[in-house]
Formats: sequence, structure tokens, C-alpha cells
Amino acid sequence: MSRRIALVPAAGHGSRFGTATPKQYQLLHGRPLLAHTLDTLCDCAAIARVLLVISPQDEWFDLYRWPQAKLDVLRIGGNSRAQSVANGLAALQADDDDWVLVHDAARCCLSADALQRLIDTVADDAVGGLLAQPVADTVKQGSAAGRVSATVPRDGLWLAQTPQMFRAGLLAEALQDPAHPALTDEASAIERLGHAPRLVAGEAQNFKVTWPGDLALAAAILAARKDNA
Ligand code: CTP
Ligand code: MG
Repeated sequence: MSRRIALVPAAGHGSRFGTATPKQYQLLHGRPLLAHTLDTLCDCAAIARVLLVISPQDEWFDLYRWPQAKLDVLRIGGNSRAQSVANGLAALQADDDDWVLVHDAARCCLSADALQRLIDTVADDAVGGLLAQPVADTVKQGSAAGRVSATVPRDGLWLAQTPQMFRAGLLAEALQDPAHPALTDEASAIERLGHAPRLVAGEAQNFKVTWPGDLALAAAILAARKDNA
């Protein structure tokens, strides 16, 4: 029976967020943002194990308490997200058939429902898949002068989110060259092998905390969820 293992790359600096403390350690309701991300993954009964990849230079992880159940932490982050994921995958020593769910540390508002939807939809898929959102806004191409150069038809356009769920063997094959500039997510690596990952409806709430203003939005989403629980 293949297992499901979550792999969380958390070795980035958050340069767009712009604070000395990386965004994954910013406090949300008194706990690091990363703790909320890990809660959702660790609380999911369908996930057997959670591997967190942090930077070898990380100065913050040891300052906090973390969920113990299922969680392993390795200081093997690389100099790109793809490299951090590739390093984590190599350390996992998963069976080729095991499912790996790669999830950005910075997506702290992933809901249990969306996570379960991905797991259920992809369970029997030959390739694997990812959470994604159909583009809702009109899409503009911008010029270097900051003007609209074209309006891009949004039909069929999706915004990729995480988790992205693939078999460990296929993902390892796809990430053999993690420095390749085209690898901005796991799905793009799988696509380069000629496969078509399954798109599973995500949710706007599962956004990636990127800019300083995003923290208040994440705090509001988590607070509303708690109130409704
Ligand atoms: N990540 C990683 N190793 C890297 C770069 C990124 O593990 N060398 C992780 C981040 O910690 C984050 C996820 O990949 O959880 C998504 O990356 P992103 O949102 O781009 O985070 P940062 O790279 O930290 O932010 P920025 O691009 O603004 O510097
Ligand atoms: Mg980045």
C-alpha cells in the first residue's frame, strides 16, 4: 500500500516580504505562520508523514515548539525552491509508488477540505495533480513602459497552487535537473516529461503569503475559520 507523505519546502528568505525574519516565521495569532501550515498537514489522517525542509542557516526554527506527530525536520534547503524539494525528496527514501504532496510553507490557509479533495481526486490518477484556481480577472500583458500591450484570453488559464501530488518515483525523475529555470513548480517538471497533471479545484484562500500586506489577510482567514469551527 503506497503511503502519502507531505514535503514542505520552507528554506526561502521571503525577499518580497522584506523582513529580516523570513515570512514563514512571522507570527499569526501568536504562532509562526509555518505552524499553521504544518497543523493542516499533520491533522490530515490520510497523510502518514510530514517532512519539513529548512535552510542550513535557519536561526528561527529552534525558537518555537512544533507539532511532534508525523513531523521530521531536515536542514537541507537549497538555493531554489526546486532544489529544496529535490533535496527533501532524496532524503525521504520513499518507495516509487508513494505519493508525495509538496506544499509551500507560505500557504498557511490551506483548508482541510481542499487538501482532502486533492487526495481523493488524484488517488487513482496515473500522473498526479495539483490544486489550482481558474483565473477570474481579465488578464493583461504589460509592456516595459508599464502600459497594456495586450489582453490575454483567460479561457483555460489556471493559477497553480499547492499541494502538488505526484508519485515519488515520477517526481524524482522529473526533478533530476532542479536548476532548470523552467521548473517553477512540481507540475512543470512533470509536464517536461510529457505528462499532463490533473487540475483540482483549489480555493482563493489558499494563497501564498508573499507581500507584507498578505499577513493581515491570512490572519483574518484563520480567525474566521476558527469562529466557524
Ligand atoms: N523555498 C525553499 N527554498 C528556497 C526558496 C523557497 O524551500 N531556496 C520555499 C519557501 O520557503 C516557500 C516556498 O518555497 O515556502 C514558496 O516560495 P516563495 O513563496 O517564493 O518564498 P520565498 O522564496 O521565501 O520568497 P521570495 O521569492 O519573495 O524570496
Ligand atoms: Mg521565491
